[in-house]
Amino acid sequence: MSSDDTVRAREDDTVRAEEIAATFDAAAADFDRVTPDVWGPAGQCLVFQAGLRSGDTVLDVGSGTGASALPAAVAVGPTGQVHAIDLSDEMLERGRVKASERALLNIEFVTADATTWEAPSSVPDAGYDAVLSSYSVFFLPEMDESFARLLRLVRPGGTVGVTAWRETALREYATTFLDALGPHLPQPLPDLTAQMEPAQRLDTPDKLRGWLTAAGTEAVEVRELSNLIPATEEFCWSFVLGSGLRATLAGLAPDVVEQVRTDFMTLIIDRGLHTIDASTLVGTAKVVGFGGPDKLRQ
Ligand SMILES: C[S@@+](CC[C@H](N)C(=O)[O-])C[C@H]1O[C@@H](n2cnc3c(N)ncnc32)[C@H](O)[C@@H]1O
Repeated sequence: MSSDDTVRAREDDTVRAEEIAATFDAAAADFDRVTPDVWGPAGQCLVFQAGLRSGDTVLDVGSGTGASALPAAVAVGPTGQVHAIDLSDEMLERGRVKASERALLNIEFVTADATTWEAPSSVPDAGYDAVLSSYSVFFLPEMDESFARLLRLVRPGGTVGVTAWRETALREYATTFLDALGPHLPQPLPDLTAQMEPAQRLDTPDKLRGWLTAAGTEAVEVRELSNLIPATEEFCWSFVLGSGLRATLAGLAPDVVEQVRTDFMTLIIDRGLHTIDASTLVGTAKVVGFGGPDKLRQ
């Protein structure tokens, strides 16, 4: 890559990071409304499967409102510490409020880009005991390189854990929403295939296992978390507004948005969609031989 290309790629990444921050800032309240059904159970499972111990130091990447970071803080106890990083201030602020309500003093929510995060001096030189990331790695630019960098922040023998959507998840739900939305749009939506590609690379147990192994980890464990959520109107609409689907409504007048909502619920009933499939894969592995954050800085 020429130096011009490198500069251009960096500028693209900056623009993308700003867009992600703006999207999740706008979506934060709705996003958090579905935490008890969607993000919370997966975050809790990820923490259990990661086998955190009292006193561990944990980095939670793309922590959002704390679905995995908060249970991680509980698991590592007062002698441990959790750094929860995210691009979106609004998401982080919600996490801070929850941590304060739960009297958790061992967690810090920090506005930071995972692609440039360096472990602060409170982290042992060897690196974090664990890096966790729930539904976030597929947002990172150049997912493989960004993930490899994160693994270098983990001490040798430490743990990495991610969650990702299972291939069937959200398919019928998203299709039904887009079918309801389509007739109300002034022009067709742009093709989203490229945007979905990173998540699709992790969406079966074999793919996720293969990806974690290729990243240089060992003792990979992938579990399937079945999560079929009753398709209530409140859930269905909150999930639209609290997810990437929200962007499809940008620029539509409020009465049109209301009509989309009505049509969406009608289609859900017509198609007999009683549950929303939010099934998830939880992958954990041991990190071997990177030699900690100091190596990365060389
Ligand atoms: C789907 S949300 C998941 C949030 C949380 N982990 C959960 O499970 O509820 C994805 C999060 O990743 C964050 N994110 C995306 N790219 C990021 C980056 N480069 N650095 C830090 N956070 C990022 C977004 O801002 C968003 O809050």
